Amino acid sequence: MNVEVLSIPTEKPRRDSYDLIITIDTLRASTVIIKALYNSAMGVYPVSTLSEAKKLKTILPSAILAGERKSFKIKGFDLGNSPLEFTKDNVNGKNIVLTTSNGTKVVKKFKKFGKTVTMALSNVKSVVEYSKNFQNILVVCSGSHGEVAMEDLYTAGVFVSMLEMPALNDGGLIARALSNEKPIKILKTAHHGRYLSEKGMAEDLVESCIERDVIPVLKRDPSGLNFFGRQIT
Ligand code: MLT
Repeated sequence: MNVEVLSIPTEKPRRDSYDLIITIDTLRASTVIIKALYNSAMGVYPVSTLSEAKKLKTILPSAILAGERKSFKIKGFDLGNSPLEFTKDNVNGKNIVLTTSNGTKVVKKFKKFGKTVTMALSNVKSVVEYSKNFQNILVVCSGSHGEVAMEDLYTAGVFVSMLEMPALNDGGLIARALSNEKPIKILKTAHHGRYLSEKGMAEDLVESCIERDVIPVLKRDPSGLNFFGRQIT
């Protein structure tokens, strides 16, 4: 198995296509998508901009609008981007249109390279199992506004450290070197983790470590729209 890890999404992938693309935004977009599907959301539609989100809402009028800018809920939206908000009461049976500063944009950029799933600390074990079916895998860390995010590289590292003898690029080797640390320590040390804590969202760090057995796979609905649907291992 070949696993290439991009530490930020502006790095150039080596290949034109892969058997599996794994996008990571540990804090917090991937964690939110995983939590929403775990709590039986019908689908999560990742979009880049506010105007895309609002346009999609006209096509899916009953959908929940969710997301953040600077980590805070967007004015007029139903939910922000805290995994704590994505409870069964809030999301069961619903479609969710999600726009975030980094994580949802990365999905849009990389989906053309192959079948796409999203991963965070909460579902890394499930994604490891799922990945055993694939040979060439690209792992894309969302980072933060063009910079490396330690929590994303760490999640990538936990992932590659659980695979059997993967061939890794240097990004994968660096990630693996991080993987012996405790998850909560990484989240609390990372820049974005400290930012969230300063803004009163420290509980999201703890929530991001809770394991949930769900793999969000990017699918297309009949009208051609992309959404994350649940695939159980
Ligand atoms: C992102 O996409 O950059 C994040 O999910 C930001 C956040 O923590 O809300």
